Amino acid sequence: MARILVTGGAGYIGSHTRYFLEKSGHTVAVVDDLSRGFRQAVPAGVLHSIDTRDRKKLTALLRQERIEAVIHFAAYISVGESTERPEFYFSNNVCGSLSLFEAMLEAGVKRLVFSSTAAAYGIPAKVPIPEDEPYAPINPYGESKVMVEKILEWLDRYREFRSIRLRYFNACGAEPESGLGERHDPETHLIPLMLRAIQTGQPVTLFGNDYPTPDGTCIRDYIHVSDLAQAHIAAIEHLLAGGKSDVFNVGTGAGQSVKQVLAAVEKVTGKKVPHTIGPRREGDPPSLVADSRKLQNALGWRPQRADLERIVADAWAFAQKTND
Ligand code: UFG
Repeated sequence: MARILVTGGAGYIGSHTRYFLEKSGHTVAVVDDLSRGFRQAVPAGVLHSIDTRDRKKLTALLRQERIEAVIHFAAYISVGESTERPEFYFSNNVCGSLSLFEAMLEAGVKRLVFSSTAAAYGIPAKVPIPEDEPYAPINPYGESKVMVEKILEWLDRYREFRSIRLRYFNACGAEPESGLGERHDPETHLIPLMLRAIQTGQPVTLFGNDYPTPDGTCIRDYIHVSDLAQAHIAAIEHLLAGGKSDVFNVGTGAGQSVKQVLAAVEKVTGKKVPHTIGPRREGDPPSLVADSRKLQNALGWRPQRADLERIVADAWAFAQKTND
């Protein structure tokens, strides 16, 4: 069992990963500046409110907590916002990551799992997407993640700093027993917005129905947040056992269209989703589906909760609890 630091542990994926790490017997410390995360998502005594750009505080914390490995989630994640304020994204996501890596080197901690994204591929030539598709981000958010991936490649080569980069597809759902779930402010993601439309009666807009896909709406690979969390645990345990640096997609390998998601939400909730059809959203690729065989073969990870109705049911249970 190891002592692990989770940055961004008050956020959606970070809080679920912290929950499963503790369940697996690891000891966890969380760093989160709470600019986007929620204090309630972290147990008392575990949270350290530090900006990742504060290298000195991070170094001290790594030493004080005798940290052996880090899972690095802390970042801004909104594509739209990144096009309005690119400098904000590069400062937090790139400078914050570099500061963390410098602190880790100072403290002698050389194992890290990094939260990357399918946005690294931009509009991929091949779908399902294998990891060797070239970097081709089309927005500052994706670029910020690619920059960090490249830093990690050089640190592996010259500093014996071992990392696993996980490129997520569409994280969704919630772990029912944990009390955790998806909360963003503002919310931009499809499933929580559909559930909110049911709860408020305010229609959700479907962004475009003229894509070159079977029903005209975009296709995405929806991956349950608990499966995603388990991929992090497999990755960090692999590094702690002396495994080498690598990069993996984390998705189910199956694509669902926006209209298929809508149908699943209506089936699970038994309610109609008020919606309108709007224009395409800038920067949305028609189809993003992971080829996740590499992760399955290398680390033995399998998605256990890939069924879309299961995902929606877990998200719905959380949405009902938080809006009571
Ligand atoms: N969508 C709508 N209406 C909405 C919100 C979303 O129709 O109100 C559609 C989008 O157009 C897209 C799908 O629902 O086709 C999923 O959209 P999300 O915003 O939930 O997720 P994205 O696929 O845009 O984003 C995810 C991650 C990002 C990452 C991106 C890679 O959340 O961090 O994949 O392209 F950058």
